[in-house]
Amino acid sequence: MTAPRPLVAGNWKMNGLKGQLAELSAIRDAVQAGGAGRAEAAICPPFTLVAAAAEVCKGAPLAVGAQDCHANVSGAHTGDVSAQMLADAGAAYVIVGHSERRADHGETDAVVRAKAAAALKAGLTAIVCVGETQVERASGAALAVVGGQLDGSLDGDFPATNIVVAYEPIWAIGTGLTPTAADVADMHAFIREKLETLYGRKGVDVRILYGGSVKPSNAAELMGVKNVDGALVGGASLKASDFMGIAAVYR
Ligand code: PGA
Repeated sequence: MTAPRPLVAGNWKMNGLKGQLAELSAIRDAVQAGGAGRAEAAICPPFTLVAAAAEVCKGAPLAVGAQDCHANVSGAHTGDVSAQMLADAGAAYVIVGHSERRADHGETDAVVRAKAAAALKAGLTAIVCVGETQVERASGAALAVVGGQLDGSLDGDFPATNIVVAYEPIWAIGTGLTPTAADVADMHAFIREKLETLYGRKGVDVRILYGGSVKPSNAAELMGVKNVDGALVGGASLKASDFMGIAAVYR
């Protein structure tokens, strides 16, 4: 059994004006020079930079993604962006169900599932995020919470090859805190089991990313955990040197 090709994806969140594309160019050049080794690399800038980022990455082994999409293809949804629009702008990935969207915009598992379905239909790979709060972890409910999110956000009919799951404990996002390697191993093994139940043998190939305060200094330990097939990187993806310091684990 071979492990899936790792993915190191950057989530720029609501950061980045046009000037930030210089960092993207630096990442592109470093990936092109082999800096991410056997891993695939992707950067998800804000909507306003998706098309320009796709232009920067044209023909290079650095994919571009977005951070959200609407569940519908088009229509009267002021301020929203459809998956088809993202694909048209040159995106290959879209993050759905990030905890900040679940919290700030009240996105439920059903909404996340509809967004993932739209992304897949548009030919994008959906990075579906799950993760528990500090209170949920402390009360021993982490696996049950994440299990429920997976049941609600995924669909057995999704093409497994175009799904990525990102496990991001909410309390680890932007805090500098990370779970122990043993806790990450338990959670990722649990997610793998769920994916195999949903997708059979194809569940083995679904990439399960870890996210939450990943940085160059802890990447080797976290990426070395079984069933961790890469990282979803927030803050550290804004600087080419930090992002590449993480991706370097796969060289
Ligand atoms: P962080 O964010 O790396 O800044 O903790 C991760 C994420 O929210 O995707």
